Amino acid sequence: MKKLIYFLLSLAMINSVHLRADEGMWIPLLLNNYTIADMQKNGLKLTADDIYSINKESIKDAIVIFGSGCTGELVSDQGLLLTNHHCGYEQIQNHSRIDNDYLTNGFWAMSKAEELPNPGLTVKFLVRIEDVTKQALNDIDNSMTQAERNKKIGENIQKLEEDAIKGTHYLASVRPFYYGNEYFLFVYEEFKDVRLVGAPPSSIGKFGGDTDNWMWPRHTGDFSVFRIYANKENKPADYSPVNVPYKPKKFLNVSMKGINEGDFTWVLGYPGGTEQYLTSDAIKLVSELRNPHKIKIRDKRLEIMNSYGDINDTIRIKYASKNARVSNSWKRWIGEINGLKRLDGINKKIEFEKEFTKWAENKPVYNGLLKEFSKNYNDIESYALAYDYWREAVNGIEIIDFAADFENLIEISENQFDSSLVLAEVTKLIKIASDFYKDYDIRVDKDVFKALLPMYFSGVSEDFYPSVYSIIQSEYNGDFTRYVEKLLRETVFNKPEKLDRLLSIFSSDRVGELKNDPVYVLFSSFSEVYKNKVSEKYIALSAKNDSLYNIYMNALREMQPQKKFYPDANFTMRVAYGKVKGYYPKDGVKYLHYTTLEGVIEKDNPAIYDYDIPNRLREIYKQSDYGVYAKDGTVPLCFIATNHTTGGNSGSPVLDANGSLIGLNFDRAWEGIASDMMYDPDFSRNVSLDIRYVLFIIDKYAGAKHLVDEMKVVR
Ligand code: ARG
Ligand code: GLU
Repeated sequence: MKKLIYFLLSLAMINSVHLRADEGMWIPLLLNNYTIADMQKNGLKLTADDIYSINKESIKDAIVIFGSGCTGELVSDQGLLLTNHHCGYEQIQNHSRIDNDYLTNGFWAMSKAEELPNPGLTVKFLVRIEDVTKQALNDIDNSMTQAERNKKIGENIQKLEEDAIKGTHYLASVRPFYYGNEYFLFVYEEFKDVRLVGAPPSSIGKFGGDTDNWMWPRHTGDFSVFRIYANKENKPADYSPVNVPYKPKKFLNVSMKGINEGDFTWVLGYPGGTEQYLTSDAIKLVSELRNPHKIKIRDKRLEIMNSYGDINDTIRIKYASKNARVSNSWKRWIGEINGLKRLDGINKKIEFEKEFTKWAENKPVYNGLLKEFSKNYNDIESYALAYDYWREAVNGIEIIDFAADFENLIEISENQFDSSLVLAEVTKLIKIASDFYKDYDIRVDKDVFKALLPMYFSGVSEDFYPSVYSIIQSEYNGDFTRYVEKLLRETVFNKPEKLDRLLSIFSSDRVGELKNDPVYVLFSSFSEVYKNKVSEKYIALSAKNDSLYNIYMNALREMQPQKKFYPDANFTMRVAYGKVKGYYPKDGVKYLHYTTLEGVIEKDNPAIYDYDIPNRLREIYKQSDYGVYAKDGTVPLCFIATNHTTGGNSGSPVLDANGSLIGLNFDRAWEGIASDMMYDPDFSRNVSLDIRYVLFIIDKYAGAKHLVDEMKVVR
């Protein structure tokens, strides 16, 4: 018996060096080397070749980078594409007019002729991946300084990228993996005519807004529909009315079969960035210093924005999108701190590092590495904080951020007054100014200004005080409020007509009016500190960290040869896999793995903006008019699974064992958000929109059944 226990214990220990099946974001090219067998063991009915191949069509051919930070997938042979509502938000907003606000009302093209072009929006298909580690590290040796090394690698990469696309219309990008221990080449085909086909109203697509953001249980219908167009040869082309719907090599089947707890699922998309291999010092810096300060600053901004938004609808609308942006990361940081605390992340890392130190003792390359890390993290602390305060507190004041946009104009006018350059810059600024004023309210910003300015001075060390500080002390007796009032009375940057007049007749002899403007003076005094005292040091110390991680990563892999390491996310295509699974958020509470339309009706409240659903949805509910989308008398809405995902995975397809589309990834659940640094199988869940709700809204709510008919729906 004792023997058996020992045997089981030692098995468990061996296992613990392997990752939990659910953790990881794997490179599609290498599935055969590491994960495919485990995926199949867990239920996948496909081969690695079915997912990624360059010799035949594979599922990767149905996946795109959507815009600059999301994922999308093809669902018809006519280039029809699904992504999240929050990914298409900007396009939907751009087409909106006061009398026809698609954000509020939704938009549905009832024929291809009604689909709306989106200048600037692109999608990229992955053509191929290649391991180019050898070539990228060609002629690199240990005698080189970090700078020499980086320069040489940069040259190697440039050559690789040029060679990869010679004579083609493709794009190429070589990216470092495992902190520069490996390099992979990615070749893409980019399409530039991508049209808006449909979007639900925000009261469905953003249902729950920032209140429910990052949370489970969730009821957000976070999807939008686009279509890729190509020229007659099915090749990428700029927008043209004669372009035709793109015929993809591959599109996904859509499965109506439904989801049960325990079902195998996987995600193929573009996770943006993770930091899985941080040292304890790094976790400490983030969770005990940087995040708390950033949160504190955003607390203030949000408190002010919300206080106005609650009593003034115009302000609420103006600040809706800013509020969402500020609140999204703010909430994630809070969740991260909580998760790392619960996981006892710092101590876990410290324990591991003790083992590491023992292992590294007689290895000259690795010995002392952690000490160097500690020293570097110690050195970086004050710069990191100054950097955060510059970004969050100084640039968080809208009018300062706006004044910063004039830096270029001032520079051009002073140095080489080239009238065509100046004209171009002025034209750009007139547009920037009109966008700025459209969503600007001086009352909000004045309060933010008064709150954030003193926060800067109490947050950073005196070394980072700008020169204006002494003026505020001597001339205003340290009274920030009086100082801000005066600035805002005198500046031109909150006086649209005056600024417009200045810009439209701008000439070099008027540059002083910008340069000596008190808000600009304040900006440049901060900017001087940032440029001369913060950024260079911060960048250098961060680079030093990177070079330490380059060695550390190598060491980790050498130390645990049995463990399968996955590289940190870097916005390249990855496979994540796991199971549909609920969780226990706190003592005595179990969360189910799915939600339904019933929850929308429970939350529905015309008095609360985030929960005020369209009347039409209320009608459909009253009549239970769910058609083929009904399940147990309601409509399935969202579900959660253990797939390891992060920002950038928004819009990614969530697939079943056969590679059919069962959902769209759009978020993660609150309790497990620390997964960017530490994945927790008990809590880390990706949140997806059930594809049946997508079809239900398109068909029953929008009456756009022709789009559902275009898809290949398997029942
Ligand atoms: N949390 C999701 C993500 O990181 C959704 C963000 C958009 N939604 C929102 N309510 N702000 O992107
Ligand atoms: N909403 C995120 C995005 O825009 C995905 C959620 C996450 O961070 O996992 O990519």
